[in-house]
Amino acid sequence: MPLAARAVRRLSRLAPLFVLLLVVVATACSRDFPQTTLAPKGDLARIEDDIFFTTVKWATLVFVLVEGALVYAIFRFRGKPGDAEPEQVHGNTVVEITWTVIPALILVGIAVPTVKAIFKENETPKGGNVLTVEVIGHQWWWEFRYPGLNLTTANELHVPVGRTVSLKMGAFDVIHSFWLPQFAGKRDVFPNRETRLWFTAEEAGEYTGQCAEFCGIQHGRMAFRVIAQEPAAFDAWAAHMQTLGAPVPAAAADSIHTATAGGTVQQQAKPGAPPPALADSARPPAPAEDPLVVQGQKLFLLKGCVGCHSLVAYNAPKGLLGPNLANVGARTYIAAGTLPNTDENLAHWISDPQGVKHGVLMPNLFGGEDAAKVNEETKALVAFLRTHR
Ligand code: CUA
Repeated sequence: MPLAARAVRRLSRLAPLFVLLLVVVATACSRDFPQTTLAPKGDLARIEDDIFFTTVKWATLVFVLVEGALVYAIFRFRGKPGDAEPEQVHGNTVVEITWTVIPALILVGIAVPTVKAIFKENETPKGGNVLTVEVIGHQWWWEFRYPGLNLTTANELHVPVGRTVSLKMGAFDVIHSFWLPQFAGKRDVFPNRETRLWFTAEEAGEYTGQCAEFCGIQHGRMAFRVIAQEPAAFDAWAAHMQTLGAPVPAAAADSIHTATAGGTVQQQAKPGAPPPALADSARPPAPAEDPLVVQGQKLFLLKGCVGCHSLVAYNAPKGLLGPNLANVGARTYIAAGTLPNTDENLAHWISDPQGVKHGVLMPNLFGGEDAAKVNEETKALVAFLRTHR
C-alpha cells in the first residue's frame, strides 16, 4: 500500500475524535457567555478584538504551514530498513534568511497596530459630550461616581449608548482590576494613583464586569454590571437618581472624607459610629407609611447600617465602607453581582452576610437574637430597602 494511502487510513481512524471535538467546540461556542471578550459591543473592545484576530490569523497560518511541512517530511522522508545513510547537510543560507525575514515581517505587522492601540487606549477622551465616571474599587464591590451629575452609585454602572465614557479609576484599599470585557480591556486600579480607561457603548443592554486582580478572599465575587441605555433613558435615570435623598450640605459630606490628589478616597468612617450628618442623610425619599417599612427604617439606624451605607445618591458622602444603597431596591443584583436582587436573597444576605460572602466587611447584625426575631427584623429591613429604588 502506498505511503499516502496508509497515512490517510490511519488518520481516518481518528475521525470520530475530530467529530467529537467539533461538537464540543460548537456546543461551547453557542452558549451564552456573559463575560466573553469575543463579542465586542464598544469601540475600544473592537480595537482589541481586531488585534486579537489579526494575531490569531497569522498564528494559524504559521501553524498550518510549519506543522504541514513537518508532518509531510515525517511521512515522506522517514527511514526504512535497509536505507543508506542520508545525505548530511549543515545549513542552508537562503532557507535560514527566508525563515528569519518572514516571521520578522509578520511580527512588525502585528506590533504596529498593537502599539498604536496601546497609545489610543491611554488617550483621555476630549469633547463636551464625554461622560466622566470615577471608579473606586473596594473590598469587594465597586463604587461609581458621576462628578458632572453629582451622583454616586454602586455595582451598577449606567452609561448612555453612543456617548464616550471616560473612567478615572482608583482603589479604596488594595489593588483591584476593573474589567468590562465587552466594552474595554481590563485595567488595574490602585490606592492613591489614578488610572484611566474609556469606551463607547454601541448597544443598549445589561453587561457584566468583574475584578480581575486577586484582592482577597471574595475577589471572585467582586462583579458589577454595566447598564447601557439609550441617551433619553440614561438622562431619565440620572434625573431620577438626583431625587434620591435630600442633598446633604457640602461641609457635612466633607467632614467624613478626605479626597487625595489621585482622586481616590481614604477611609475615615468607622462601622457602628455613624457621624450625625450621615444619620440625617439616611432619611428615605418619602415618608414611609407601611409599619414594616417604618420598622425597617428604625432598624437601619439602630443596627448601625447607616454607619457604612448611604441612602442618598445625589451629593452622597464619600469614604464610606459599604456600597451606596440609594437605589438598591431596583438593582438587578446584590452583594456585588453575587445574588439576583430578590426579597429572599436580600433577606439571606442581611441575616447572614458571612454565610453568603465569607470574609466580607459587613458584620452579622443579629448577634444572640432568636431565629423568629431575626426573621422579623430582616423582613422589615428588606421592606425598607425595597422602597429605595
Ligand atoms: Cu477586587 Cu479582585
